[in-house]
Amino acid sequence: MCSINLSSEIEEHLPLRLLKLMKEAGEKAEELGQRLYLVGGGVRDLLLQRPNFDLDLVVEGDALKLAKCLAETSRVKLVVHPRFGTAKLSYTDFSLDLATARLETYAKPGALPMVIPGTIIDDLIRRDFSINAMAICLTPERYGELIDPYNGKNDLENRLIRILYQRSFVDDATRIFRALRYEQRLGFQLESNTAKLLQRNVSMINTISGNRIRHELELILKENRPEPAIQRADELRVLKQLHPSLKGNGWLANKFEQVRQLAKPSQILTLYLCILIYPLSKEENEQFLYRLNFPKRSAQAMRHALNLKAQLPDLAKPHLKPSDVYQLLHNYTSQAVQANAIASDSPVINQQLQLYLNKLHYVKPLLNGEAIKGLGVPPGPQLGRILQILHVAKLNGRVKTKKQEEELVRSWLAGNS
Ligand code: CTP
Repeated sequence: MCSINLSSEIEEHLPLRLLKLMKEAGEKAEELGQRLYLVGGGVRDLLLQRPNFDLDLVVEGDALKLAKCLAETSRVKLVVHPRFGTAKLSYTDFSLDLATARLETYAKPGALPMVIPGTIIDDLIRRDFSINAMAICLTPERYGELIDPYNGKNDLENRLIRILYQRSFVDDATRIFRALRYEQRLGFQLESNTAKLLQRNVSMINTISGNRIRHELELILKENRPEPAIQRADELRVLKQLHPSLKGNGWLANKFEQVRQLAKPSQILTLYLCILIYPLSKEENEQFLYRLNFPKRSAQAMRHALNLKAQLPDLAKPHLKPSDVYQLLHNYTSQAVQANAIASDSPVINQQLQLYLNKLHYVKPLLNGEAIKGLGVPPGPQLGRILQILHVAKLNGRVKTKKQEEELVRSWLAGNS
């Protein structure tokens, strides 16, 4: 075991308020006869000098008791999960997740592990990669001491992702996705035995539930630039396990880049998903949606994207009026239209999609139902019809002002009376 002390790194790289809180937590743990550790990604990122303010703390003792004591002495939101022995303390700009140190065993591949309380070493042994299996003691007696049973610090220096034991991917195949995510995020490499075992066990992905796979895929898609991890997933035949027709190629990389340039942040994830399934047939997409158990909203966006893809040739027909474009597109969600605007490589089609997104989508007559009634149109189907006529005229630029709209209503009334 290492006897490296990282107290100066902690003092130097963590924000002052976070540092103070962690020290107080360590002191409180000691008062309660417990030991407290910073673990996992927080240690990894501290050593890499990457900001990470959502920290995981592990308690040798009782995490809930410690979390409750800490919440009593500071203004913080506390959420506890007694079943899992975990608690979350949310402060304004960061959060602390506390968990009781645990020992895990896997009853069968892909199942959630069985858990009993354990020591910090037990807790590190159950983790995914050596770089995530380090802890720093926060209790005053051993403050700053690095606990690194798998030489994670060495692997960080050598830029390697290494599993802790041979059956790691068999026990938990979500680690396959995690390995690719860290490899690409950090610009590291899979250590050679890890790479070999990942490829050998790629079919273990079949042992994981759709929800867990989807969660891992979404974590990859939430990275700053997810395309290298998707490309790597294709290369290592990971993507094929989700659906044999999925591809992580240069086309996808290019379209992902465009998504980031063009979309609002809140739309990016759904648009990535639409791009990912774009090469699939509708039937293949249904298989993918079913396997990953996508919730209604994102499933609908992906279905719409493919339905519209099938209709795109209609947008390339000559002499289309803006109202024809509107008619073709208005039943699709704007996400589906945007996904197609990014995915389609036809300039003509793109121009029509952009016209709809930037302009036609927003066009509305100035006169509302009440104003039209005021001009003498009786309520009922006639009113609906004239509203539609006005909308089409407005879309095609035949009426612009309120006065022109009123004239159109009057002449329609004259022609229909
Ligand atoms: N962990 C694990 N196996 C998993 C999930 C998590 O071993 N399947 C451990 C790792 O030690 C990881 C820690 O739990 O560091 C916290 O998990 P998570 O929040 O997913 O990862 P972070 O390391 O915090 O990474 P990120 O920066 O992506 O949030």
